[in-house]
Amino acid sequence: MDSQATYNDKVVRQFAIMTVVWGVVGMLVGLYIAAELIWPGLSFDVPYLTYSRLRPLHTNAVIFAFGGCGLFATAYYVVQRTCHVRLAFDKLAAFTFWGWQLVIVLAAITLPLGITQSKEYAELEWPIDLLIAVVWVAFGAVFLATIGRRRVKHIYVANWFYAAYIITVAVLHIFNNLVIPVSMWKSYPIYSGVVDAMMQWWYGHNAVGFFLTAGFLGMMYYFVPKQAERPVYSYRLSVVHFWALIAIYMWAGPHHLHYTSLPNWAQSIGMVFSLILLAPSWGGMINGMMTLSGAWHKLRTDPILKFMIVALSFYGMSTFEGPMMSIKTVNALSHYTDWTIGHVHSGALGWVAMMTIGSLYCLIPRIFNKTSMYSTRLIDVHFWTSTIGVVLYAVSMWIAGITQGLMWRALNQDGTLTYSFIESIKFTYPYYGIRLLGGLVFFSGMLVMVWNVWKTVADVKPRAVAVVQPA
Ligand code: HEM
Ligand code: HEM
Repeated sequence: MDSQATYNDKVVRQFAIMTVVWGVVGMLVGLYIAAELIWPGLSFDVPYLTYSRLRPLHTNAVIFAFGGCGLFATAYYVVQRTCHVRLAFDKLAAFTFWGWQLVIVLAAITLPLGITQSKEYAELEWPIDLLIAVVWVAFGAVFLATIGRRRVKHIYVANWFYAAYIITVAVLHIFNNLVIPVSMWKSYPIYSGVVDAMMQWWYGHNAVGFFLTAGFLGMMYYFVPKQAERPVYSYRLSVVHFWALIAIYMWAGPHHLHYTSLPNWAQSIGMVFSLILLAPSWGGMINGMMTLSGAWHKLRTDPILKFMIVALSFYGMSTFEGPMMSIKTVNALSHYTDWTIGHVHSGALGWVAMMTIGSLYCLIPRIFNKTSMYSTRLIDVHFWTSTIGVVLYAVSMWIAGITQGLMWRALNQDGTLTYSFIESIKFTYPYYGIRLLGGLVFFSGMLVMVWNVWKTVADVKPRAVAVVQPA
């Protein structure tokens, strides 16, 4: 069967390549702001280069451009393969590609200009939000219509996760961005005060839960079994995992608003649901890892599987750490410190980026009709730079964060503060250096990936031996 005629792989190829491109751009901005925290002069008094403007550029670029393109590419690939049918609506699928790139370019222009709603992860102003809503609804139409046209009765579990991610992100995006525009580039939310804060973190936490988790679990449920050439460890567990995860995530948002004017009972609900969330999260992690039972030896030779298993380990770590940080007394220490940043990047670099990279290495030869990536050795080099990079990043931020928290609360016998704020900043500097180093090491791996992908795609003749790629 000629897969080119059967499947729409053009849009998958476009999104896959842009995932790599935006990954490099987003992480480069991450490196720049990491350097600015050490050398504030790096903004050169240019307003567009200030930390406050580049930080949201970094988060938008890595989450929505890098992560988003990776999710589009894999969702479109997986739904076609598991439903045995071509993607519905070719033109609409092409529109989602060009529309999403336009959103990213508009974000890259408006954020450095300081145009922002000042809501974290929802900074973009209303005209861009409208475009996002249209593209997202088109994404949902293409994806769900493809499922509707499937030639197999069963809907594979990866599609459940992708569908939940697409539908929920649409709802979150629309409700958190209900605003009254006052000019072309300025609007005010219809919510005020604590209700606004609660909406924002209902959105923010579920952006983590559905954008950075459910979508990537869809990726995991397809690419881990594919690469390991084993069926999913437990199909029943995957169904329980799905329903438990989506039911519980929705209620955990208030853990971002501990000790604020949000009513205490609401904060406690957020904490309790966050603690319960550990169970489905670990169920999913175990299901992914145990898929390798009987195939553990493959980890010796297959760096793509190594990417996936280390990604799952970081998923397990960050979903253990998150519930701990949601306990109010722990949050009293962690909030405002670099511990949060360590948690974020163990999830974002360790889980999200490494799962995406592993899946791309599995996907790219297939969609470009090659038998394998250009170089397996370079995938291994990338694996080690990623692993060392994320460990340096996360560990330095954990040490810095926990010490900051302890320094800020330390009291002398007479009740005065033991340390001034500036002393905690001075303490943090070396750890910012280690974080920058970790980022550089991680980023160097991305450049290796660019080279490997380039050589794979540009290679005119299919490569002879498939060492790690299953047929
Ligand atoms: C080379 C890799 C990266 C570097 C050097 C880097 C660096 C940074 C820095 C310096 C910050 C600001 C920290 C602060 O405010 O104290 C930050 C924030 C953030 N980064 Fe990254 N980053 C990288 C990759 C990523 C990736 C791949 C993702 C997501 C997939 C990500 C998601 C985030 C998020 C969500 C925040 C905001 C965290 C918060 O507000 O608590 N980063 N990053
Ligand atoms: C069971 C799962 C998880 C729970 C219960 C959880 C809980 C938490 C808590 C309590 C905070 C600190 C809130 C604060 O003090 O302001 C936090 C921050 C954060 N977490 Fe998680 N986390 C989980 C998993 C993850 C994963 C897997 C990722 C990334 C892929 C992630 C990304 C983030 C981000 C980006 C923030 C920073 C939000 C901000 O900008 O303030 N979390 N999480």
